[in-house]
Amino acid sequence: MRVARGAGWLDALRAAAAERTDRGLRRELRPRPPADPVVDLAGNDYLGLACHSEVVAAAAGALHEYGLGATGSRLVRGCTEIHAELEHELARWLGVEAVLGYSSGYLANLGAVRAVAGALPGTLVVSDAHNHASLVDGCRMAVKDGATLRVVPHAAPDAVEAALAAHGGPAVVVTESVYSVDGDLAPLGDLHTVARAHGAVLLVDDAHATGLLGPAGAGAVAAAGLTGEPDVVVTATLSKSFGAAGGVVAGPGALHRHLVDTSRTFIYDTGLPPAVAAGALAALALIRAGDPMRAEVRARARAAVGRLRAAGLSVPEPAAGVISVAAPGPDEAVAWAAACRGRGVAVGCFRPPSTPDGRSRLRLTVNTGIALDDFAKALDVIIAERP
Ligand SMILES: Cc1ncc(COP(=O)(O)O)c(C=O)c1O
Repeated sequence: MRVARGAGWLDALRAAAAERTDRGLRRELRPRPPADPVVDLAGNDYLGLACHSEVVAAAAGALHEYGLGATGSRLVRGCTEIHAELEHELARWLGVEAVLGYSSGYLANLGAVRAVAGALPGTLVVSDAHNHASLVDGCRMAVKDGATLRVVPHAAPDAVEAALAAHGGPAVVVTESVYSVDGDLAPLGDLHTVARAHGAVLLVDDAHATGLLGPAGAGAVAAAGLTGEPDVVVTATLSKSFGAAGGVVAGPGALHRHLVDTSRTFIYDTGLPPAVAAGALAALALIRAGDPMRAEVRARARAAVGRLRAAGLSVPEPAAGVISVAAPGPDEAVAWAAACRGRGVAVGCFRPPSTPDGRSRLRLTVNTGIALDDFAKALDVIIAERP
């Protein structure tokens, strides 16, 4: 057999893939059909807005007016009036001076962490051990730029305080609000108190709380009374409760200016498709008026936790729409999720090394777009298939 010169890299990839298979770490894509019969407790469409008629109509209208793509980066031709209106409305809703939209939450987090950590030389980045990969990658980029990183135990303001005190210079504390894996809420008030005492910035990824917590769904930062504070930066994604796509950085106007001028994940990236921005704008209107939807998320989460606990499962108190169910181990978690899938229920499955604490669990999400009856039956399946 003739082996092409330079094919060694493919052999290396194949060997690494075989090793991942041996360790049970393969990941699979599962394309879903339009009218998917699966009950989806794995996605993040908490308020069922991805398929809401007003959201879809707004997106379809913009699709006809602007076409499919943004056609360029935001600073070239990729900024439409819809993008500007969306950012303006988001800023009003979040009570901040300015919002900058990115094409994903991931890119927004890279941009935000890097910008804040790079503002002053000698900055310390204090990052919660459970932070999302996009924040972790933002921290890594900040380190490459010259910042120092300290990863602290999860939800531990004392550890943050100790890190800030030991450093004594400029710093940014990086945290999620509602944690994406376990659904618990970070102690935002305490973190802000500690950060402020040391002159540090608090950067909060509100991805799993926007739309769900706070007045008019403005998120956990708003619920904690930190709206518009000059030392607080909020990032969020439009890919969860908005049912859309795109990320935002919300905060002081000077940060916005800095990001527009310098943020690489903003500048060198094609803008969000205008149709998606229009759908997100329609979703925002529904979210603002969405107290009944939020009450429904809370009621479903409470009922689900009650049923799962009554069945003897270990479930921490959810802060919003993420419900974490402990599994005995990684193999059991994988088998459990597969058994649910086999019975038409999609659930998330987390196990080491994707979990920061070595524990395995199923991750369920509340989606008010799912019929109550289907939601209840899905819980039956999860309970029946427990390892
Ligand atoms: C906490 C958190 N931050 C950021 C992101 C990234 O958002 P996006 O999917 O819009 O890139 C996600 C999820 O994907 C997330 O769970």
